[in-house]
Amino acid sequence: MSAPIAIIGTGLAGLSAAQALHAAGQEVQLFDKSRGSGGRMASKRSEAGSLDLGAQYFTARDRRFVEVVQQWQARGWVAEWAPHLYSSRDGRLSPSPDEQVRWVGTPRMSAITRALLGALPVHFACRITEVFRGEQHWTLQDADGQNHGPFSSVIIATPAPQASGLLSAAPKLASAAASVIMEPTWAVALSFAMALDSPVEGCFVQDNPLAWLARSRSKPERDTLIDTWILHASSTWSRQHLDLSKEAVIEHLHGAFAEMIGCAVPAPCFSLAHRWLYARPTSAHEWGVLADSDLGLYACGDWCLSGRVEGAWLSGQEAARRLLEHRQ
Ligand code: FAD
Ligand code: NAI
Repeated sequence: MSAPIAIIGTGLAGLSAAQALHAAGQEVQLFDKSRGSGGRMASKRSEAGSLDLGAQYFTARDRRFVEVVQQWQARGWVAEWAPHLYSSRDGRLSPSPDEQVRWVGTPRMSAITRALLGALPVHFACRITEVFRGEQHWTLQDADGQNHGPFSSVIIATPAPQASGLLSAAPKLASAAASVIMEPTWAVALSFAMALDSPVEGCFVQDNPLAWLARSRSKPERDTLIDTWILHASSTWSRQHLDLSKEAVIEHLHGAFAEMIGCAVPAPCFSLAHRWLYARPTSAHEWGVLADSDLGLYACGDWCLSGRVEGAWLSGQEAARRLLEHRQ
């Protein structure tokens, strides 16, 4: 029996790889610096209920992903979300309906990664700082200086800037990952005790500090007692205001929201801000995965493909496929 495979990152890419390897009879061990799984698809529990602060919804365009989303739907992990969509440009709000099928996790976005993780062995609150190879096997070192291993292969499934530092054993892969620029996103949740008098349930925003807003209660199986909105600032605004205090970010985005939504917006009864430092790659790639199969080192994530949920899942599948192919 060979040593297990280490997977760093329990976002969708890492879990997609873990599932495929587990299904092929391989032993995996997962690590994440956070206290739970999901990464940018995580949902935050709060006094206003669960908040999808990262990925808002996802589309499925690749045939393989379409099929897997149908399986997730049959298991009750996801449902279609068909919001009253709007767009806002030059301060003008207008309906913007379309035919696109959009999916969300139920009852929260993190339900998907939680279900995928299942009972797989995982170390949470464990930030890996170094990945090094002995004569035959890999060892991981965490931020407390503790070693984990031995492992036969390692899959790094973190955002590119975090992956590049862990890829030093394969300088070519490290420099490819280092070339990927990822932009930040400030996310704010605002809850109102009385529902706002607006038909908007989702809105693409341009020419504004905001880029997107969504009404939580319009998503399937969400809390409807309180009217919670998730606002995302644009990459440009987020970059320019990276170090602003959370209070100031809430104040700015609340103001921008009140200006564009076209109805009275009282002070929120609950508010929260979250900064995603590595939210989205500036451009898409077609790598699928970065791999050094002879070494047994792989890097995957949304940044290897489309920078979306679908890209993360596909990239994890590709990492598993390449690893299994090499073992045959
Ligand atoms: P991640 O989800 O980032 O997972 C990486 C994991 O690695 C994390 O759990 C992290 O804690 C862990 N990690 C990092 N470094 C270490 C380390 N050193 N040691 C251990 N663990 C580590 N996509 C869409 O398709 N639709 C959307 O509407 C959408 N909206 C978005 C809105 C926002 C604000 C953000 C931030 C993203 C959005 N996305 C959206 C993108 C989508 O969330 C990502 O493409 C996808 O979730 C990425 O998955 P991943 O597994 O590649 O990475
Ligand atoms: P999609 O097809 O719904 O949206 C793609 C883009 O098309 C949108 O960003 C928007 O600009 C435009 N668009 C789509 N439908 C529209 C409509 N009805 N009216 C006006 N404009 C419309 O979804 P896809 O391709 O799966 O993209 C995922 C979404 O995730 C995008 O909105 C993207 O911006 C967002 N995202 C956000 C991140 C962040 O950090 N804030 C990171 C990664 C993705």
